Amino acid sequence: MSEEDIDEVIRIERLSFPNPWTRGFFERELRNPISYAFVEKIEEKGRLRLAGYIVFWIVTDEAHILNIAVDPELRRQGLAKRLLCVALSFMEDRGVDVVHLEVRRSNTPAINLYRRFGFEEVYIRENYYGNEDAIVMRLVFRHKSHIIP
Ligand SMILES: CC(C)(COP(=O)(O)OP(=O)(O)OC[C@H]1O[C@@H](n2cnc3c(N)ncnc32)[C@H](O)[C@@H]1OP(=O)(O)O)[C@@H](O)C(=O)NCCC(=O)NCCS
Repeated sequence: MSEEDIDEVIRIERLSFPNPWTRGFFERELRNPISYAFVEKIEEKGRLRLAGYIVFWIVTDEAHILNIAVDPELRRQGLAKRLLCVALSFMEDRGVDVVHLEVRRSNTPAINLYRRFGFEEVYIRENYYGNEDAIVMRLVFRHKSHIIP
């Protein structure tokens, strides 16, 4: 993600969340040295269209996914799967062992998406979103186990 992507990112953000991130949030993440923000673009009528994005932090061997969304018009086409796949590979390459995220209890699409990648529900943060609980999910990379005899 770069500054030029932010208008389109915000458009998708507002269509995707009841309490969307502001421009300032995205700008701050672009300057934050522990933050990584990727956009996914598709080709449409000979032009590139921003279809989705993901923002995550990496701190030593832990990552935290802060935000992921796909344009409502382009959902259920595997775009979030591709985005998450790229982000998780990137994390693994950087030596991350464990990934955490929070998701609204009612957000079945996102929970299903994370489960497909092996995320497990670890605990509940009550009223994390004010009026709704968050499920904290965790994915532990198994790569290190290959080198332990
Ligand atoms: C969650 C979200 C990113 C999924 O994006 P997407 O591009 O539609 O997802 P994909 O097409 O890659 O689907 C991947 C898997 O997610 C699950 N999934 C996606 N949408 C779903 C839905 N509406 N209902 C149930 N499961 C769904 C399925 O397991 C799906 O795999 P399948 O299609 O093989 O069954 C998208 O719905 C979104 O932007 N939601 C609003 C923002 C949001 O809630 N982000 C998560 C915050 S924690």
